[in-house]
Amino acid sequence: MKAMSQTINAFPTHLLATQFLSATDIYSILDLASTWIGADGQLLPAPPLLQQKTVANLFFENSTRTRCAFELAAQRLGAYVLNLDVSTSSTQKGETLLDTARYLQAMGVDQLVLRDSQSGSPSVLAAQLDEGMAIINAGDGTNEHPSQALLDIFTIRCYKPNLERLSIAIVGDILHSRVARSLCYALSTLGVIDIRLVAPSSLLPESVPSNSVSLHTDLQRGIAGADVVIALRLQRERMQNFAALDTISYFQQYGLTEERLRHAKPDAIIMHPGPMNRGVEIDSIVADGPQSVIFHQPKFGVAVRMAIMALLQAE
Ligand code: CP
Repeated sequence: MKAMSQTINAFPTHLLATQFLSATDIYSILDLASTWIGADGQLLPAPPLLQQKTVANLFFENSTRTRCAFELAAQRLGAYVLNLDVSTSSTQKGETLLDTARYLQAMGVDQLVLRDSQSGSPSVLAAQLDEGMAIINAGDGTNEHPSQALLDIFTIRCYKPNLERLSIAIVGDILHSRVARSLCYALSTLGVIDIRLVAPSSLLPESVPSNSVSLHTDLQRGIAGADVVIALRLQRERMQNFAALDTISYFQQYGLTEERLRHAKPDAIIMHPGPMNRGVEIDSIVADGPQSVIFHQPKFGVAVRMAIMALLQAE
């Protein structure tokens, strides 16, 4: 057994949280990912950096984008890919997550991509396993979703290269959002000083992770002059009492509409990590409109996951 390894100079052994990444780590990922995006914005072929390596996807929560992106990224780097079906795996027979991971490691898995409803489980697993298998957090409870935040920052940088000067508003269910947490940590580390979290008070955290982050209950003020507006869905599966939340009045107060977005900068970009609930947190006219980069995020997500896996595998 070994302690969780997050080194200072070398790239970390695992990707567990943006909270533990340095600016150098983050730029290493973004810069490597950018080598696999062409001038036309499309994915380029990559060298087989993961040839003879095996990546396993183990998702205990539903996923479309993250799971597909990790699978495509591993394939593009030449890895063998195992997609475990949790509903038919032996976790259903009482096997612990640690034992499942140990068996996978014994079969030669080099990288384990884990999504779990339990906050902190990727870190606990990384601390308990023997060396040799990298753990990649693909979203743990309400804690972090580091690869999503990194692809979001990659996307922002494509359209707005001077990150430090940007005003970035994240609008929606902040309280339950692991994406918002990961974004706050990573953007703060990169020197962004105006990160606004916008939501009804019941969906805002009590404290902020850095001095760069401010809380807003007024949408108009929260997005005023913003360069980037990121919409988040209401995460009903993590709420104690979702039935009490009226989604129609939520949309009336916090939904991103064309009219409301006039308060942001005229060239603001609109993002969403997905899955989107149209007519709840975002109007279709905005999601499909000229300022939306929502459907560009997924391909950047493949390149960013490729970079993460390549850097974790680098000797
Ligand atoms: N953004 C995101 O994590 O989407 P999935 O739940 O589909 O992976």
